[in-house]
Amino acid sequence: MSENYTTTQTGTPVASDAHSLSAGADGAVALHDRYLVEKLAQFNRERIPERIVHAKGGGAFGEFTVTGDVSRFTRAAVFQPGTVTETVQRFSSVAGEQGSPDTWRDVRGFSVKFYTSEGNYDIVGNNTPVFFIRDGIKFPDFIHSQKRLPGSGLRDADMQWDFWTLSPESAHQVTYLMGDRGIPRSWRHMPGYGSHTYQWINAEGARFWVKYHFHALQGNEQMEGAEAEAIAGADADYYRRDLYEAIERGDFPSWKVSVQVMPYDEAATYRFNPFDLTKVWPHEDYPLIELGVHTLNRNPENFFAQIEQAAFSPANTVPGIDISPDKMLMARVFSYPDAQRYRVGTNYNELPVNAPVAPVHNYSQDGSTRHGFSPASTPVYAPNSTGGPVADEARAGAGSWESDGELLRSAATLHPADDDFGQAGTLYREVFDDAAKERFLETITGAVGGVKSDEIRERAIGYWTKVDATLGAALRANLASGEQTADEAAEYVGVAD
Ligand code: HEM
Repeated sequence: MSENYTTTQTGTPVASDAHSLSAGADGAVALHDRYLVEKLAQFNRERIPERIVHAKGGGAFGEFTVTGDVSRFTRAAVFQPGTVTETVQRFSSVAGEQGSPDTWRDVRGFSVKFYTSEGNYDIVGNNTPVFFIRDGIKFPDFIHSQKRLPGSGLRDADMQWDFWTLSPESAHQVTYLMGDRGIPRSWRHMPGYGSHTYQWINAEGARFWVKYHFHALQGNEQMEGAEAEAIAGADADYYRRDLYEAIERGDFPSWKVSVQVMPYDEAATYRFNPFDLTKVWPHEDYPLIELGVHTLNRNPENFFAQIEQAAFSPANTVPGIDISPDKMLMARVFSYPDAQRYRVGTNYNELPVNAPVAPVHNYSQDGSTRHGFSPASTPVYAPNSTGGPVADEARAGAGSWESDGELLRSAATLHPADDDFGQAGTLYREVFDDAAKERFLETITGAVGGVKSDEIRERAIGYWTKVDATLGAALRANLASGEQTADEAAEYVGVAD
């Protein structure tokens, strides 16, 4: 008898891996073949909903080591000098579905979960420091415009540019997307940003505003459109494979992590609204301060259990770190746990990849596939007089900010230098070199060239003219001369380039 034998899910040895129970060799299959029924039923339930955005991705485990000293800004245990913390990281594309090619032009997700001694801390960012919109109420519309038409199921340049040109706050991020950063060489060769402004609180209770930056120690590298297109056809999982193989051969990717720190009171008078996710804080205003190094050194053993079911959320903060009055961030702290209760299940935080190393004490109980429980003597309500856990405000180390306004719906306060196109223009003029500018023009010529509506095309030319007048004129000339090729016209509608 074999020691390595097949069983049912309840551990009973089965008689065959290959033959169903049937009435004679050619007869009807018996419904009471429990293993056949269990095997087919289990198979039908293998898939869970893919993430509503960032569906295609991959990831690995690693560790974060604090090399700087930011203890004057935050009391968070994870960021105290010398601390080493286990992590899991997931990279992703935004718009494509689970099977979509890694090298399609897109923003890339950059999520890190720190299993800290004070609870899980997640930074759920992108490879760009800004975003397309500044109010979470627009997020579903934005995503609908980048995904597929309801009738044909096809991606559509008209709806993408219609949304962008009617949402001028998108200009900065679309400049990143259409620039070289839209197609990284690999996940290992791109930066990451927390993007939002977060709040840090130090041991004395003083508050600061911070932005996170991850710089790849492998260097930043990108891919040109033609190569990305060829790879999209040949190996849809190019980035996932690259990361997995690098870690397997011991070539562990790492990122230098830095922060920009703004004293709490400077937010009110800073030239840009510091809580507007469409803006960066120029480094000359707030230079980078060393925080640590993040290294990925262990591949998942099971992609589904450890990466697909991983649940990252900006709501996961720890004492000494909190959110800020950024309207996008406030929407996100609702959205992620809600999505994960639906996508993974009510008790998703009990799964090993999501479970904290810090102890969990609270009065939540039960729910679908509950696994953990406290001793029967533990009280199930608060307040109680039988020694159950008690909230401790001092331990929570939460942040706060002043807010005494009337409830209303409006854009956030404008600061002196706030406008939708200024930083996009600076990125184009001052960060892109001449060759990058040329590639950028070619990319937007192709992308806008794919728009069928004359009105939306005209609006798109106006949009780029506001970013930079010379760029707008060059785009108009290219479009008029039929400069874009059929391949280029497919730019950012779901074809590589
Ligand atoms: C994934 C919502 C803005 C980065 C997700 C998911 C939702 C979501 C529901 C899927 C979560 C899951 O099923 O596990 C939103 C909403 C936003 C927003 C409502 C605006 C209000 C952003 C921004 C960034 C971002 C600004 C980056 C700065 C990500 C990343 C993932 C993700 C990286 C994938 C996480 C992973 O690897 O599992 N988003 N998002 N999102 N989002 Fe957002």
